[in-house]
Amino acid sequence: MSRKRKKDKIGTKTSSFGSSGRFGHDSSEFYRSKLYEGLPSECEESSIKENKFPLNLINHIFCKSSETMEEIPDNSVHLVITSPPYNVGKEYEEGMTLQEYRAFLSSVFKEAYRVLVP
Ligand SMILES: C[S@@+](CC[C@H](N)C(=O)[O-])C[C@H]1O[C@@H](n2cnc3c(N)ncnc32)[C@H](O)[C@@H]1O
Repeated sequence: MSRKRKKDKIGTKTSSFGSSGRFGHDSSEFYRSKLYEGLPSECEESSIKENKFPLNLINHIFCKSSETMEEIPDNSVHLVITSPPYNVGKEYEEGMTLQEYRAFLSSVFKEAYRVLVP
């Protein structure tokens, strides 16, 4: 068995530089780092109430602003991926002042944070 193949078999862990690949990845070192200090760990999950994501909303596309996502319960989503408008004059943008843009981003991120399971 080649060295690389053997490495794949035993799984990877957080590397000290760059990212070479992930197979059966052990990221426990990363989650023990300062970045996560004070945040609940998986071991403490029982203190976090995860709500069920409504079945009727799975694969549903909402044609509305993400500033309010009242259809989605608190702590019910495990991953949010976002690419907010840049506010640089694209056709779907409204041309906000810096203050308006920051307030807009803040309300979207607040909603994303609310729906995410910690
Ligand atoms: C920077 S683009 C994202 C492009 C996308 N990542 C892609 O690769 O096609 C921003 C997107 O946010 C959408 N958008 C604008 N205002 C929004 C809002 N209030 N809520 C949700 N989406 C919004 C726009 O229609 C646009 O598709």
